[in-house]
Amino acid sequence: MSVEYRPLGPEDVEQAAYLEATAFYDQPTAERTELMRQVIPPDWTLGAFVSGRLVADARVLPTARRINGGQLPFGCVGPVACLAEHRRQGYVGRLMRMWLERMREQGTALSGLHTPHDSLYQRFGWERAEGRKRYTFRAKDVMIRVRGAAGAMVPVDADGWQRLDNIYRRYAEPRNGPLERPEPWWRHGIFRHYESGRRQRAFVWSAASGDDQGYIVYASQPLGWDPDRGGGHALVVRDMVSLTADAYLGLWQHLLGHDLARPIAVEVPLDDPFWQLVQDPWNVNVLRAEGAMIRVVDVERALAARPYVGERPLAFTMRVVDHSAAWNDGVWRVEAADGRMTAERASGEADLELSVNFLAPLFTGFIRPDRAAASGMLKVNRPAALDQATAAFAVTHPPFCNDLY
Ligand SMILES: CC(C)(COP(=O)(O)OP(=O)(O)OC[C@H]1O[C@@H](n2cnc3c(N)ncnc32)[C@H](O)[C@@H]1OP(=O)(O)O)[C@@H](O)C(=O)NCCC(=O)NCCS
Repeated sequence: MSVEYRPLGPEDVEQAAYLEATAFYDQPTAERTELMRQVIPPDWTLGAFVSGRLVADARVLPTARRINGGQLPFGCVGPVACLAEHRRQGYVGRLMRMWLERMREQGTALSGLHTPHDSLYQRFGWERAEGRKRYTFRAKDVMIRVRGAAGAMVPVDADGWQRLDNIYRRYAEPRNGPLERPEPWWRHGIFRHYESGRRQRAFVWSAASGDDQGYIVYASQPLGWDPDRGGGHALVVRDMVSLTADAYLGLWQHLLGHDLARPIAVEVPLDDPFWQLVQDPWNVNVLRAEGAMIRVVDVERALAARPYVGERPLAFTMRVVDHSAAWNDGVWRVEAADGRMTAERASGEADLELSVNFLAPLFTGFIRPDRAAASGMLKVNRPAALDQATAAFAVTHPPFCNDLY
């Protein structure tokens, strides 16, 4: 039995569409294969071929992620799939290691993924490093206590994607987590649900001055019939962005017009205050939602691309333990000054020690170094270095990305 690992070519797309659909319990369809052909270059996917047949694959979409007013090259991992009859034979593990090397060669500094299998990806260095919470509520139970200026809700279809993109770019620029979204991302990942093809509805909130200041994208989802409730629909928000308080309030007010939906479900950054703006906060359920697992693919490149938002120059050393990316493993001297950070190879005992896993939530600002040290994620050999690291890894916003990939 021969096993070959290689990037996919155009002739492999049909097999990949079949593999990915069956691994996720979907039906392979001709439309899906065609869409894959149109929007995903085959060599964004690495495959494991057993006797010429594709049995496992892993894809990385190249994009960029905003942080502290800058951006760094980012790889979105997904899907990752193996045919059921070939699982637990190490095919996907090998593909993940190959992807780490390939991403580094391509200049990708950081990578992210969404998964229910944390322990699988932890072993390759990914770690939860972004936060989200989910609100669920019924429109009739919620009254907002604060009113904003009136604006217009303007429906927009996929051909108007640039109108949303203009708002999104202004929103993303200073933030921590938003991804660069090219046109196909808008058309096939925002205006449509990529997997199901289900169309989403989009509206722009436009101020009386005519300035577009926010947008919302959502779809209704039929609920199964149950004897207590009957049938019905949930309303699931895919994306919601506002640049001003008036737009923020206007978008929420629009959602509250959906009096048939039960529930309305919205995912927001951890510091979103909507629940506090309503008359009875107990009517808004606040649930944990899935933030991405992140991996620092290339310590040197990632730190060099990460803007520093502190005032004073500082420096410390850290030992990074990385079992699947040797180029990261070892001691680094980190400096931060004049809006920039750098990492250079160093030696000797390091001020701080941590795994590449726990570097990810520090890097994104999901967990502060002093909190990481207090909970055993980070070992401190020189206490003064902990203050320096805490200042160095400060962020302008908590990490949040409104994409699922
Ligand atoms: C998850 C999936 C991709 C794993 O593929 P696989 O080829 O069986 O994985 P591997 O054999 O390479 O496993 C590598 C290691 O991870 C472990 N592992 C595999 N799947 C795991 C899981 N779901 N959770 C935790 N650990 C897992 C394996 O035991 C193995 O450990 P070992 O090296 O100590 O033996 C495959 O089960 C699959 O296609 N599932 C359905 C689709 C899916 O869930 N995709 C991932 C979505 S993020």
